[in-house]
Amino acid sequence: MEYTLMHQNISVAHIEIDEETGSISKIIEIYYQEHMPVGTVCTIHNEIKIQRAALNHWWTGRSIPASRNGIRKALEEIDMYDTTLLLTRCLGLSLSDHYWIKPFGSNMKWEDVNFFTNSFSEDIGNVLFGAPKKEVGFDYSSPDNTSDGDLRKRWKIINGKRCLVKEGTNPYCQQPFNEVIAVKIMERLGIVNVPYTIMWENSQPYSVCEDFVTPETELVSAWRMVQLRPKANHENVYMHFVNICVESGVPDIIASLDRMIVLDYIIANEDRHMNNFGLLRNAQTLEWIGFAPIFDSGTSLGYNTATQNLLVYEPICKPFKKSHYEQLSLVSDYSWIDFASLDGIEDEIHELLLGENVEKYIDEQRRNAIITGISERIENLKKIAKTHLQKNFNSLENDVLEDIATEYSGETEL
Ligand SMILES: Nc1ncnc2c1ncn2[C@@H]1O[C@H](COP(=O)(O)OP(=O)(O)OP(=O)(O)O)[C@@H](O)[C@H]1O
Ligand SMILES: [Mg+2]
Repeated sequence: MEYTLMHQNISVAHIEIDEETGSISKIIEIYYQEHMPVGTVCTIHNEIKIQRAALNHWWTGRSIPASRNGIRKALEEIDMYDTTLLLTRCLGLSLSDHYWIKPFGSNMKWEDVNFFTNSFSEDIGNVLFGAPKKEVGFDYSSPDNTSDGDLRKRWKIINGKRCLVKEGTNPYCQQPFNEVIAVKIMERLGIVNVPYTIMWENSQPYSVCEDFVTPETELVSAWRMVQLRPKANHENVYMHFVNICVESGVPDIIASLDRMIVLDYIIANEDRHMNNFGLLRNAQTLEWIGFAPIFDSGTSLGYNTATQNLLVYEPICKPFKKSHYEQLSLVSDYSWIDFASLDGIEDEIHELLLGENVEKYIDEQRRNAIITGISERIENLKKIAKTHLQKNFNSLENDVLEDIATEYSGETEL
């Protein structure tokens, strides 16, 4: 069936979708190249290439991943074999960007269909959380059809706000608490973040965060950015991403990455893959606003490591280096870190993890190990930051003037 790919009310392309597989079978015409999803138009040797494979990858990547917890059962419940088939049922609408599709020739308008200002059905969300399919009047129109990530999650309108409700995994269900701990650390360090809170339902903890995408702005993942052009031989993964952002005119990219890398060290994040951070842009003007507030920090703090190993295990590191120490070497500047602001963070985390409900998942030994791990990494970071500042100071002192040295001398007193 033929559709128009839309970006808000802008017609971007005329496409054909194979109803049997849910994938894009043909690009009939491109109307507005600049508004094509980022990374589906690629420049190779100064030649602009629009690849159906790239567009299709973007489109099918909008669907719930096959690795989502509980997805097989949910698909059986609605009698579908693939989550890609759900995309056309909600016009591909999401709460993270402003793309959608409409049947070719239809005069549907963004203001009438988008989920930012129109309500949506809870039916798919219920099935994703294990409920049986409603027999009559099942309504597929929901941003849950286009939500990414492995953890069970659903969008809900709570007190008029669009919120993402996300589960943890057994046995510790630690991810929701980790999200809140990461926010507490980021708040103290002045890192722009998506605030998460804990919601309890049937004695189970969920993290809840508001949609940080608005009717004006949209999220473009780091993954989409690195599709803009291939990595040059002289670039590592970090430089590839940074250079593309600089070439695209994204402001403050290095300072923002410094903050993310430092946070991920403190919380021993194991899953900062390229879809777990990104950029914000104005969906109409396409102007880059900057780094998106930090979200999805839950897969951290040894979330699935046995308690007795929590202080000795080696966390995986993503996206730039294989170890967090190595990744810290990419940080350009530590001078923004006010270590004193972290004083007392242990008590705050201790308080968060207290209580009968929490202790069903995270006992005293685990709570103490989580807190000790954080304290140890903050202490290490202090040393690393001090060495880094001294290194900078020495190299500056060697070839620059006394007044610069004076400016930096305060920062070495950590
Ligand atoms: N508050 C939010 N506002 C808008 N979009 C969001 C928000 N939180 C998450 N998203 C989008 O939803 C996707 C999935 O959310 P999230 O990364 O939190 O899930 P996850 O299951 O923990 O992911 P992963 O598989 O990476 O662990 C994100 O990659 C992002 O595109
Ligand atoms: Mg994620």
